[in-house]
Amino acid sequence: MKITAYFSIATLATFSISHFLFAQGPDIKEIMTKANKAGGLFPQIQKGLKAPTPNWATLKNDSDELVSLATMLGKSKPPKGDAASWATLSKGYLDEATALKTAIAAMNKAGADAAIGKLATSCTSCHKAHKN
Ligand code: HEC
Repeated sequence: MKITAYFSIATLATFSISHFLFAQGPDIKEIMTKANKAGGLFPQIQKGLKAPTPNWATLKNDSDELVSLATMLGKSKPPKGDAASWATLSKGYLDEATALKTAIAAMNKAGADAAIGKLATSCTSCHKAHKN
């Protein structure tokens, strides 16, 4: 009896985990933490661009990772708001992250500053529409 109970709990847990991983797509909270929270890629890139001599190699790695996260964001489902709005806003975020990556790869400081400025203004409108 006890063994059966353990077995069902384990089965249930395995099912929930695979459901979470494969059906839900990447977790937006996790993406936001890595991409945008204090200490994340966005604030780090913002700070890195302000250095008297920016470390372009580090900035390149960080912006590559930001683009990967932005790509995953578009494949996730937000906790609220309609799908069309999410498609537009998440694509806008990906486009801005890609523009940032392109400018950084070209060591184009003015271009990177402009792209990071656009990213900085994207947060509130998307949170208003899609964050609880
Ligand atoms: C395309 C939409 C979108 C954009 C753009 C966006 N966010 Fe978010 N963000 C979300 C959603 C949706 C959540 C809520 C996720 C949830 O609760 O599951 C969120 C949550 C967060 C969180 C909370 C994470 C946690 O641990 O709960 C932080 C911090 C955050 N965003 C920071 C930012 C910052 C800073 C920017 C701009 C540089 C930004 N976000 C841009 C959609 C977006």
